[in-house]
Amino acid sequence: MASRRAVVTGASSGIGEAAARALRGAGWDVVAVARRADRLAALESETGAVAYAADLTSEADISALVAFLDESGPVHSLVHVAGGARGTERVEDGRAEDWQWMFEVNVLSAQRLVAALLPQLRRAAASDGHADTLFVTSTAAQTAYAGGAGYNAAKAGEAMIAHALRLELNGEPIRVVEVAPGMVHTPEFTLNRLGGDSVAAERVYEGVEAPLTADDVADVIAYALNAPGHVNLDLITMRPVAQSAQHLLARGPLRPRGVDVA
Ligand SMILES: NC(=O)c1ccc[n+]([C@@H]2O[C@H](COP(=O)([O-])OP(=O)(O)OC[C@H]3O[C@@H](n4cnc5c(N)ncnc54)[C@H](OP(=O)(O)O)[C@@H]3O)[C@@H](O)[C@H]2O)c1
Repeated sequence: MASRRAVVTGASSGIGEAAARALRGAGWDVVAVARRADRLAALESETGAVAYAADLTSEADISALVAFLDESGPVHSLVHVAGGARGTERVEDGRAEDWQWMFEVNVLSAQRLVAALLPQLRRAAASDGHADTLFVTSTAAQTAYAGGAGYNAAKAGEAMIAHALRLELNGEPIRVVEVAPGMVHTPEFTLNRLGGDSVAAERVYEGVEAPLTADDVADVIAYALNAPGHVNLDLITMRPVAQSAQHLLARGPLRPRGVDVA
């Protein structure tokens, strides 16, 4: 059978970039989408993932992406990784422009992409057995934390799109998968959230033994997409061992209790 083709958003950095690499490594054709064309071009020359620069908050860019995908081949999987957080303000201090950005990039982009790409996903499912949508949400979609409300609400909104979509697609061979990571140490996520303050960003991960990496999440994404087409991994919540819950993060080495460690 010919390769399956995935559209991976957020492919210019972090988890999306790692997902594009992992899928290429597993034999997928990949269209790598984000705004930064230079980073996508570097990924393309290294991995063969086809670069496509688009702002997912722009209807015009999404229409152009759909036309490009229509001309260039089938779409078996939408892997929506693009997103992010801005700010850590309390609800009472929340900045409307940050909340609007988070809703645009996490929630509305997911709806826009589903609406735009479902016809192509359906055609691929008809000819090749099944198609997929996969959303990278967050444990922030599941549990609120002080200072997290804007991001909590946006990621919960994105998760609810996945939940409703799975119900709406019942009876069709199209999977809807949600991957909800906890702490992932990527170079840009916290830096962007904290307005470019690199010292504060590094402090977030200070002393944490082995936060998740982008590759850890990418492995799970690839696993979910490579599973047999009748297997729908509805929700995969994944955290580093050091993070037992949103509010319970071990800083310092992980050590078994009551045992001398050499
Ligand atoms: N890192 C974590 O701890 C963590 C934990 C749980 C969930 N997540 C979620 O995982 C996803 C990826 O996170 P990450 O850590 O890999 O962060 P990241 O490196 O900041 O990646 C965000 C990606 O989204 C793209 N993007 C942002 N705005 C866009 C727009 N308007 N149009 C198109 N693309 C846009 C960015 O590319 P351009 O700037 O080039 O457009 C970038 O590739 C996000 O949805 C995040 O919420 C992250």
